[in-house]
Amino acid sequence: MSGSAPRHRRLCKQDKFLFGVAYYPEHWREEDRQEDPDRMAVAGVNVVRMGEFAWDLMERVEGEYDFAFFDEQIARLANLGISTIFCTPTATPPRWLTVQYPDTLRIDRDGRRMEHGTRQHCCTNSARLREYGWRITSALTTHFAGNPSVIGWQTDNELNCHFSECYCPSCHEAFINWCRRRYNNEINLLNQAWGTAFWSMSYTDFEQLVLPYDRPARWNPGHMLDYWRFLSDTTAEFQREQVEILRKGNPNWFITHNGLMANVDYWKFAEDLDFLGVDIYPGFGGQENIHGVAFIADRCRSYGGSFMVPELESGPGGQVGYILPTPRPGQMRMWLYQVIAHGADSVMHFRWRSCRFGAEEYWCGVLDHDNKPRRRYEEFAREGIELRHIGKEMLGTSVDISAAVLIEHDQDLAWKTMPLGMPSPESQSLTLHGELWRRKLPVGLVEAHDSFEGPRLLIVPSFTMMDDDLASRLTEFARQGGVLVVMAWSGTRDRFGRITPLSAPGLLAELAGVTVEEFGKLEKGENSLTFADGTTASGFMWYELLRPTTAKPVARWSREHMAGTVGLTVNQVGEGKVFYVGTYAAAEEASALLGPALDEAKIEPVVAGLPEGVEAVRRSGKGKSLLFLLNHSCDEQLVSRVPAGVDLISGKTITGSLTLPPKEVAVIHVGRNLSVK
Ligand code: GAL
Repeated sequence: MSGSAPRHRRLCKQDKFLFGVAYYPEHWREEDRQEDPDRMAVAGVNVVRMGEFAWDLMERVEGEYDFAFFDEQIARLANLGISTIFCTPTATPPRWLTVQYPDTLRIDRDGRRMEHGTRQHCCTNSARLREYGWRITSALTTHFAGNPSVIGWQTDNELNCHFSECYCPSCHEAFINWCRRRYNNEINLLNQAWGTAFWSMSYTDFEQLVLPYDRPARWNPGHMLDYWRFLSDTTAEFQREQVEILRKGNPNWFITHNGLMANVDYWKFAEDLDFLGVDIYPGFGGQENIHGVAFIADRCRSYGGSFMVPELESGPGGQVGYILPTPRPGQMRMWLYQVIAHGADSVMHFRWRSCRFGAEEYWCGVLDHDNKPRRRYEEFAREGIELRHIGKEMLGTSVDISAAVLIEHDQDLAWKTMPLGMPSPESQSLTLHGELWRRKLPVGLVEAHDSFEGPRLLIVPSFTMMDDDLASRLTEFARQGGVLVVMAWSGTRDRFGRITPLSAPGLLAELAGVTVEEFGKLEKGENSLTFADGTTASGFMWYELLRPTTAKPVARWSREHMAGTVGLTVNQVGEGKVFYVGTYAAAEEASALLGPALDEAKIEPVVAGLPEGVEAVRRSGKGKSLLFLLNHSCDEQLVSRVPAGVDLISGKTITGSLTLPPKEVAVIHVGRNLSVK
């Protein structure tokens, strides 16, 4: 990937900013359906998404397709300039299908078969489900190919949301075939990769393979790693087959999906799509989940660049056992601008109106159960009207970053095979990204296969699996002047997940200029690192005693048998520096642990002197620079040292400083219209 433009900066392909809602006309009466388009249009809606759970309505009887219900509603919306994103409905197969073919149903690790009466109950590896899925996808494709109001598609719905590990016979057979391909039909390659010499597990034929179990004793990590990779690959394959049908039907449609779920490698998954989508429900992280929103948006962007939010929370969300906090006034709109700041180029709220029946009666929409427009509708309409004016300004720009934390799905899978109670690479990314974000630096996430061009600081968050390609690209990054931080436990495994015979950090040892002489678990507060100036940082969960080869010590362990032994180092590599941190980072220690690397990288905050509670993000492109200032706090905030420009939302010219009311945002087009007084 190096040399090519970074994928996280990939621009939006659409010529319009799409704003709207997830819409379920099948839940409502004719009078409501007639009224809805007007209310949507007034609120600035230009797109709705529909159809993902309505297979039973489209094909009441096997092979008899009827899309007239949707045609009518699509036409009503189109009359008011509202386009439709349609969905393949494979997340909820109709009852006739599961009655006729119970073998399509998923089976969990305990051997329990799923049943009709909920959703995602069918297995995406079932040849039968796939076949019926292609048939309805083909029928929908043929039907809508000539309808200009259907502008794009979402495949299925949140693939792997509730269930990704299936143990049905279809999965078993598909896993055997996947392993055959992966190991060139040579069973001994598989035996070596999985280390089947342990506990007499060796296979002599692929047909003998089983799906991995964790009972009566622990699973084989190599077996498990490949099983999770298999799930990811076959989920992508399930989608790809639908994508191919849709593309043949109308090459002008865009195709997306709403993730991010378990056991899907979205770096690969995104290759079949025009752009990725991510559903964002900040309420899962509590009332004020500000960094969480930044992180999930950055994650999505790292896999595919410009993205869509097909579902953004718009009310309290509740299911059988819980209810999320009700977004306070202004909160929805803050989320909207925050996700746009972080690279979303289309947003739809979930959902138009709260449903009066079904499993999500309390998953509240823009309109309440009684269909009366209240504050959420008012806020939604404000968003829509604003975006009608300024949405297009976002297109052609992408998010600027100078610091990045690496992310790679496969690393999390490797961790899951043997977590030892340690944080996952992704949760370490969350902590480390959070630290840089709190320092108001232009931070993002970069997928490990992407180009490393752009950021001056890169952090490797305990990537245990290493290969020559990644090691050499990291080396190149440092050589050319980058500041690299490698966190503990990195480089200890090969790409089969086996522990390397090299001294840790394995393929990164030369780059880091250290070897790990001893590692172990740390209890809370048990030991800390002392820096040259006497300051300390507590070690978190794990310690490594380092032996510098070419690196210089930066901090040493303080107590017990470790006292005086090096725990944090820096190595000069070409023009750059490589820091090795021999522990994990707790949120409260991340600042101290990253301090020396940050001093070295000298990254400026997005805007100097930003008050607490205000987030700043910059998007740029084609000579344009947009500065988002988001006041997440409940107090008025004065932002000084704002570059001159025009606030696209208020239309005001800004010179030098700006006062942001509580939960208010400014999108400053830097340098625009400065001659106008
Ligand atoms: C999403 C899902 C929607 C709806 C929503 C609220 O994950 O895609 O269909 O279930 O959550 O629970």
